[in-house]
Amino acid sequence: MTKKLYIETVGCQMNMLDSEMVVAALRRQGYELTHSTDDADTLLFNTCSVRQHAEDKTYSALGRLRMAKQENPQKVIGVMGCMAQKDQKTIFHRAPYVDLVVGPGQLHQIPELIEQIRRQPGTQLTALSLDRKGSNVDDIKRSHETFDPLRDPTMRPTPFQAYLRIQIGCDKFCTYCIVPMTRGPEQGRPPAQIIDEARVLADQGCKEITLLGQTVNSYRHEDGGKTTRLSDLLLSLHDIPGLERLKFVTNYPKDMTDDLLQAIRDLPKVSHYLHVPAQSGSDDVLKRMKRGYTVGDYDEMMSRIRETLPEVAVSSDFIVGFCGETEEEFQLTVEMVERHRFKNSFIFKYSERPGTIASKLRPDDVPEDVKKRRNNDLLAVQNRISEEDNQPFLGRKVRILVEGPSKLSVKQQNDSSDLLQLTGRTMCDRIVVFEGNRRLIGELIDVAVVDYTPFTLFGSVVTNHVQGIEPPAPILS
Ligand code: 5AD
Ligand code: SF4
Repeated sequence: MTKKLYIETVGCQMNMLDSEMVVAALRRQGYELTHSTDDADTLLFNTCSVRQHAEDKTYSALGRLRMAKQENPQKVIGVMGCMAQKDQKTIFHRAPYVDLVVGPGQLHQIPELIEQIRRQPGTQLTALSLDRKGSNVDDIKRSHETFDPLRDPTMRPTPFQAYLRIQIGCDKFCTYCIVPMTRGPEQGRPPAQIIDEARVLADQGCKEITLLGQTVNSYRHEDGGKTTRLSDLLLSLHDIPGLERLKFVTNYPKDMTDDLLQAIRDLPKVSHYLHVPAQSGSDDVLKRMKRGYTVGDYDEMMSRIRETLPEVAVSSDFIVGFCGETEEEFQLTVEMVERHRFKNSFIFKYSERPGTIASKLRPDDVPEDVKKRRNNDLLAVQNRISEEDNQPFLGRKVRILVEGPSKLSVKQQNDSSDLLQLTGRTMCDRIVVFEGNRRLIGELIDVAVVDYTPFTLFGSVVTNHVQGIEPPAPILS
């Protein structure tokens, strides 16, 4: 009999990848995916701890399963990922009907743990990594290692795009951040493993790979006196037949070295897009966050980026309302956004995380309404800039990888017609929405930009070589 798996994923790209791996492992055990919690006999929640809100959402989702589990006690309910590692057995106190709590480093054990629970219903199992203190460093590292080679194209948003983990963990210990505790010490995967996995992905039809790491540009791997950096990896991956685009997230400002910028410039398959979170435009706040750089350092990095890669799009993350943030300090962040004109910024209200350095040392003293206002104000500045910077694309031809139906098409469940609204991305990560034939999905095509908003370019397919059909918009470049 087939077993039915329901899996819900929140959080970052690492979690999306982790879910793909878990699904691949469970499919090998005969599981099929279902979108219904009622149909499922196994329910997994892949969780995030970066902000309180993400945890609240998971606990409410678990709350909704209380009755279902009472009526059907053989359903197995598991919590995996960062919140599992952070909250550990307290999850059983808050949701006593949960059977399984598995940290990000133990995901490979999930199939066996589910079987154990099926053999002995009522047992509650945990599989967690070691805390960062109190054990030998190598043991801690090993306890966070993940399993990566199992790939399941059907679990990806599209079969021709994939994430590939090159690094796990983080050693930066920014004072607000829980990730170094939940994902453990920074470790670069061996380059040979990464390249093999990229080949498997390319053989499966994957055209675009996004390399993942918490501070992906800090990637280093030492082997017999030879150091491999991210720029070296990009060079090796560039030759793999079938791959058309390479991206990488997330970058750490201090490690944006010239060899990496030159690799992006010289390797045509590498996306001209850099996500480099600044977090704040105030030196004092950066110091309290223990980010390890000053505003001057960040500005200097931006000048080097603009000099080597004049066409590159840069995006950022900001936290507003961090402990003690004054109005003047916030204004410095606004000025930084104005100065660097990011393609887009992800803006977050500070959320205190138990276990972090900030939670132990500094009160979360900026009132919620002030955080909200600063969030809105900064977003308004960023949106104006994004809109202004999209304007010059009007009338230009851009090359995009077509990703699939647009959000609107998905909402309208427009899956009967061949002609539908599609979405794709440019080489500098701009989203382009256009009308086109379903068979374009997965193709690299040219589109003429006919309209724009701060977040989206709207285009028309450029039909070259077909007599009698005019391109729908003037092509200026
Ligand atoms: N509160 C709010 N935002 C946070 N981030 C990380 N930790 C917190 C926190 N405690 C943000 C940072 C990071 C992004 C992934 O999440 O901006 O870059
Ligand atoms: Fe968190 Fe800082 Fe590491 Fe990013 S670099 S994961 S913000 S500790």
